[in-house]
Amino acid sequence: MLSKTMEEALNKQVNAEAYSAYLYQSMSAWAASQGLKGLANWMDCQAKEEMIHAFKIYNFIVERNARVTLTAIDGPPTEWDSPVAVAENVRAHEEKVTGLINGLVDLAVEEKVEEEASANDLVDKLKLAADSPDGMMMIDRELAQRVFTPPPAEGEA
Ligand SMILES: [Fe+2]
Ligand SMILES: [Fe+2]
Repeated sequence: MLSKTMEEALNKQVNAEAYSAYLYQSMSAWAASQGLKGLANWMDCQAKEEMIHAFKIYNFIVERNARVTLTAIDGPPTEWDSPVAVAENVRAHEEKVTGLINGLVDLAVEEKVEEEASANDLVDKLKLAADSPDGMMMIDRELAQRVFTPPPAEGEA
């Protein structure tokens, strides 16, 4: 089960990976137009890898019964001043995507920390009441108050 926040973040990542593929394919086209077959090939490989990343995340979402929503992919640049400019753009873009991935990891960790904190809380409460039937009854009554809140339905969040 994915949280709505995680679902949205992963969908954004699908778009970011597809954009990366688009950007690198555009670089490949530029390199080919300059007669740089090797660079064109390198960028072509890079673009294919990015589409695989996009599909991996796509499948990850679907396999968790969450919803993939594909969105418009921005048009990439089409011209570069030199092969070095292409390489520098690749590096800058990869640095940016690393930032996005770090954001996803932070979000996952945050959600796990919350779950751990509430599990910790439960252990503490039950330990406190372990030797007292009255205490156990009290805490059990408190635990009975917990209400499951389903994640918001499609389109509501
Ligand atoms: Fe990627
Ligand atoms: Fe990449």
